[in-house]
Order: sequence, then structure tokens, then C-alpha cells
Amino acid sequence: MITKHRSLKVKNTLGLDVSTRFLIVAEKKETILDAWKFSKFLKLPFLILGEASNVLFVEDFAGIIVLNRIQGINIYEDSKLWKLHIGAGENWHKLVQNMLTKGIFGLENLAWIPGTVGSVPIQNIGAYGVELKDFCSYVDVLHLKNGDIKRIYSTECNFSYRNSIFKNKYWTDFVIIAVGISLKKKWQPILTYNDLKYLKPISAWDIFNEIFLIRKRKIPDPKVIGNVGSFFKNPIVTKKEAKLLLRYFPTMPCYPYINNQIKLAAGWLIEQCNLKEFYIGDSGIYKNQALILINKGHATSQDILSLAREIRIRVGKKFNIWLEPEVRFIKAKGECDAVAMLS
Ligand code: FAD
Ligand code: EPU
Repeated sequence: MITKHRSLKVKNTLGLDVSTRFLIVAEKKETILDAWKFSKFLKLPFLILGEASNVLFVEDFAGIIVLNRIQGINIYEDSKLWKLHIGAGENWHKLVQNMLTKGIFGLENLAWIPGTVGSVPIQNIGAYGVELKDFCSYVDVLHLKNGDIKRIYSTECNFSYRNSIFKNKYWTDFVIIAVGISLKKKWQPILTYNDLKYLKPISAWDIFNEIFLIRKRKIPDPKVIGNVGSFFKNPIVTKKEAKLLLRYFPTMPCYPYINNQIKLAAGWLIEQCNLKEFYIGDSGIYKNQALILINKGHATSQDILSLAREIRIRVGKKFNIWLEPEVRFIKAKGECDAVAMLS
């Protein structure tokens, strides 16, 4: 299905009133390839999206947006593992719920995250002590220039905190069309995250339900209040830098990260700048979680950008930590450098 000059207001979770020149819904890879050829023929920018839950449209998009809706969930098994092969257009949360219903456990900590399956490897989605990399076995990418499909095994994906090979080597000219996930048949709850430490789960459903309650407290439902989840990434600093900050801010949350580094809590840093419930136009900081920027109804892209700039400057001046957006910034011709836009 192809539509012209299409509003994206209900199609991006921030609820920004932006538009695209063409919008195509693709249920098979051939439609994606045709759309790409069409974009080359018309010399228009091309953008693949899932559910636009991690994008900030800085302005109207001047090209062709393809919404990936390739469906299909195939389940294989051996004596120890459930092996899933999932179409990139499946909804992530529904997949998690569907698997639990079938008695296939393991993904419950990642429940309630909006978006499609095809997007989850890109920033290696993570929540409540778990990241996609813990279960991902491969990612199938379609090379738009020649139609070839390449399977990239997990070991080659360079997964790290909110990062993967799909943000660089396999970024332009590639579209993720399927993801492979392996889950151990012998289920073990993961309760390492502070918010879950007290829980004594009997089944994966207990974790699923608890995470619903935690998320409900901290993260607004995008259908009610526009948002993209965490707007910025949590900063990662050296142990030395963390120690220095702790001297001045002894209550600052610190989490050990790989290679002797420390992950800080951007939400806490923002809160310390007395920015909670701070508004520019109709954009603001969510009252229960300072890392979440919201659209109260009629915020413009410029409102969100001004707010994000203000936050970055205030946190930078107070802590000498310069926050980097997690959300991807999209200009008329495609993705742009989000840090540069805020500098
Ligand atoms: P989109 O926003 O549509 O796209 C994101 C980027 O991926 C874009 O650059 C797009 O071009 C690209 N892309 C999309 N599909 C493909 C494809 N098939 N092939 C190649 N490139 C593609 N994230 C977390 O990690 N943890 C959380 O706990 C979390 N909670 C959230 C809560 C809320 C309320 C919201 C709104 C967001 C949250 N997020 C979270 C962020 C977001 O849900 C995830 O990043 C999600 O995986 C994005 O999926 P999407 O399909 O909406 O991607
Ligand atoms: N905090 C504050 N004030 C705030 C917000 C947080 O002091 O306003 C403190 C909390 O008290 C806690 C710490 O910061 O000590 C961490 O807060 P929280 O558990 O809410 O998680 P987060 O670090 O803010 C990250 C992810 C979320 C993910 C949760 C749960 C990033 C950028 N964000 O948030 O992911 O759901 O942990 O694992 O890593 C997303 O990526 O969009 C997202 C929502």
C-alpha cells in the first residue's frame, strides 16, 4: 500500500505533527526492494521504520518511508533450546507475550518495550538486567543494492550498551528482515536489576507482571502522552571520573560496566539540575522519570530540540558530562548526527 503526503502524527510515539512525501507498508521483502528502487528512480531519500518509537523527526521527511511489517514466527527446538525465527515486522511485546503463553520463557524482562522485532538488534534493546544480545543468535539483513540476504551471527553483531553493527557497517543500504532468538528450555529468572531484587517469582509471568507495574509507574503510555522512552543514553565514564564525581555528589547512582568502566544514571543527573517538570512549549520532562521527554499534546520538533539542548547544557555545566541522545534524529533527507544537532 502506498500513500502520498502522509501525516505521521499517529505513526510516531512522540506524536509530532510531521509528514512524509510517501508512506509504504511492506509485508514482504520484495515490497521493500521495490520501494528502494522507486526512491532511487525519483532521487528521493529512503527510510525504513518499525513503529517509530525511537525516532525524533526534526522536520518533515522529504522522501519515502517504508514501514516494515514482515510477519511470521517459526519455532524450532532441540533438547535444550527453543529456537525462534521471527519476521522483522512482528511487534516485539506481542512476541514476548505470545511466547510466555506457549510456555517459552526468557524474554519476560524485555516485555512492554514498543517497536518491531527488526529494530531490537539495532540498539540491542535492554531493560531490567537483560539485553537482546543475551538471546539473539542471528540477524538476517537484506542488501538493498543487490537483493542478497546475509545472515549475521550474534558473535559478529558487536552488541554493546545501546549499540551494534547495525548502527554502522550495516546501516545504510541494509534492512533487517528477520531475527533469530534462542531460549533455554530450563528457565532461570533474572532478578539482578535493583527494582526486581525483592521479587520471588514462581514463573516468568510474575516478572512480566511486575515489570508492567514498574514501567507503568515510570514510563508514560505513548498512546496517552507522546514519548520515545529514554531520550538520552546513560553515560559511561572511567572509574577515575566516577570517583571524582562521587566526591562532590556522594549519592550519585553508579553501576559497574565492562572494562572497568562505570555507568551513570542520566535521569538522576537531570533531576539534580532541578529540571523535573521543566517545559518548553508543549514539551517537557516527565514527572516520574527525568530521562523521558514528553509531548503534552502540541509540542513541535523545535520544542523537543530546545528542551533537549537545555537539558544537555545544564547537565554538562553541572557535572561535565555531555549526554548523548538514544533516540535517532531524522531530518528531511534522512538520519542526522543527533549530538551535533544539540551542540
Ligand atoms: P523505529 O523507531 O521505527 O526505528 C528506530 C531506528 O531503527 C530508525 O533509525 C530506523 O530507521 C531503524 N530501523 C527500524 N526498523 C529497521 C529495519 N527493519 N532494518 C533496519 N533499520 C531499521 N528501548 C530499550 O532498549 N529499552 C526500553 O526499556 C525501552 N522502553 C521504551 C519505552 C517507551 C514507552 C518507548 C516509546 C520506547 C522505549 N524504548 C526502549 C525505545 C524503543 O522502543 C526501541 O528502541 C525499539 O526497539 C524501537 O523499535 P521501532 O520499531 O519503533 O524502531
Ligand atoms: N533516577 C533518578 N531520577 C529520575 C530517573 C532515574 O534518580 O528521574 C535514578 C533511579 O532512582 C535509579 C537510576 O536513576 O537509581 C536508574 O533509573 P531507572 O531504573 O528508571 O532506569 P534508567 O537508567 O533511567 C534504563 C533504560 C530504560 C530501561 C530501564 C530499566 C537507558 C537509557 N534507559 O533507564 O530503557 O527500561 O533502565 O532497565 O539505558 C529506553 O531505552 O528507552 C528505556 C526506557
